Amino acid sequence: MEQLRVLELYSGIGGMHYALKESSVPAEVVAAVDINTTANEIYKHNFPSTPLLPKTIEGMTLQDFDKLKFDMILMSPPCQPFTRIGLQGDVTDPRTKSFLYILDLLPRLSKRPCFILLENVKGFETSAARDALVKMLKECDYSFQEFLISPTSLGIPNSRLRYFLIAKRPPESFLFQTSTEIIEGFPKSTSSVTSDSSTLPNNEPAPSESEREKTGTIIFKLETKQELERKRNQDRQETVQRLQDFLEEEEENMDQYLLPPKTLQRYAVLMDIVQPSSRRSVCFTKGYGHYVEGTGSVLQSCVDVEMESVFKSLELLSDEDKLKQLLRLKLRYFTPREIANIMGFPVEFTFPKHISVKQQYRVLGNSLNVHVVSNLIRLMMS
Ligand SMILES: C[S@@+](CC[C@H](N)C(=O)[O-])C[C@H]1O[C@@H](n2cnc3c(N)ncnc32)[C@H](O)[C@@H]1O
Repeated sequence: MEQLRVLELYSGIGGMHYALKESSVPAEVVAAVDINTTANEIYKHNFPSTPLLPKTIEGMTLQDFDKLKFDMILMSPPCQPFTRIGLQGDVTDPRTKSFLYILDLLPRLSKRPCFILLENVKGFETSAARDALVKMLKECDYSFQEFLISPTSLGIPNSRLRYFLIAKRPPESFLFQTSTEIIEGFPKSTSSVTSDSSTLPNNEPAPSESEREKTGTIIFKLETKQELERKRNQDRQETVQRLQDFLEEEEENMDQYLLPPKTLQRYAVLMDIVQPSSRRSVCFTKGYGHYVEGTGSVLQSCVDVEMESVFKSLELLSDEDKLKQLLRLKLRYFTPREIANIMGFPVEFTFPKHISVKQQYRVLGNSLNVHVVSNLIRLMMS
């Protein structure tokens, strides 16, 4: 089979490139495009022979795109315009401009690509940008399928619910029956998928603050009984791997990842704490290691101490004793390598020496789960 020519837009640190490699589809990335200097350094470090264009997408002309003669586009446009936390500027957000530019340009290419895969946050599915994408696909005769998938569907102990769209142009068509509904998880007939637990109630995202108020009393650590039960249920799912399979050896330099006393005192009750034996973790975002609340789980590295015993009487203690108690848990951040492992990056993926830990968390938080995308590429090509 001839090698497919792939264009990787918004390439970041190359999550899509790794997914393509993992899919075993005979293909070559003919160009990767991104404007972020740090992400580009990391991409170049890992894929030195891939042509990387350090420019804005909207700065490229129709002729520039035509010259690349690509058969497939893999892309993760900026997600801030569509996140619930962001202002949801959607198509009016300047960060959506390049995406609208692609939608305008695609029908005018001298050879339209046969395959398109797009990744974005949950929230994109209700945006005007999504409607514009679907309109363009229909006008250009593509068949397509939308998904909402979390890595938990593949037995990976990490929630990262994301929107995906895969599209094909005749003569190519999908082997499975496409639907106008968004599919949650992988279609049941996908043989490459090991398990599908994403749709089980146990893996639903945590309730919001207001839901929390409605659903009951907080028993410890600002968690309701329901939240605790949900987490315990997740830990009972044997089809999901344990976090310990993704951890690095506990070495001396792990101390740099311990949560500082101030952070412990202020935020311990708000943090999502997991153990090596846990089968769950919350989504790691770009603020991980810096902002505490809602940016990703932290690891209890001393497992001999029972978490409940530490938290139960915490508010009755002086600040000093409180800290003493919390320190017993040896709470630490996951290292960037561990997050890369959880996100499916292969061992050969590394960071150039001068990239700081904070920068590493940032680019990983912006990236994607390689295994999920690789399964989708396989599904798109079958
Ligand atoms: C969600 S991240 C993509 C992450 C990527 N899939 C990965 O695995 O790291 C979006 C990327 O788009 C880049 N970007 C945003 N606007 C751009 C534009 N107008 N032209 C080129 N790149 C852009 C950002 O620098 C960022 O790296």
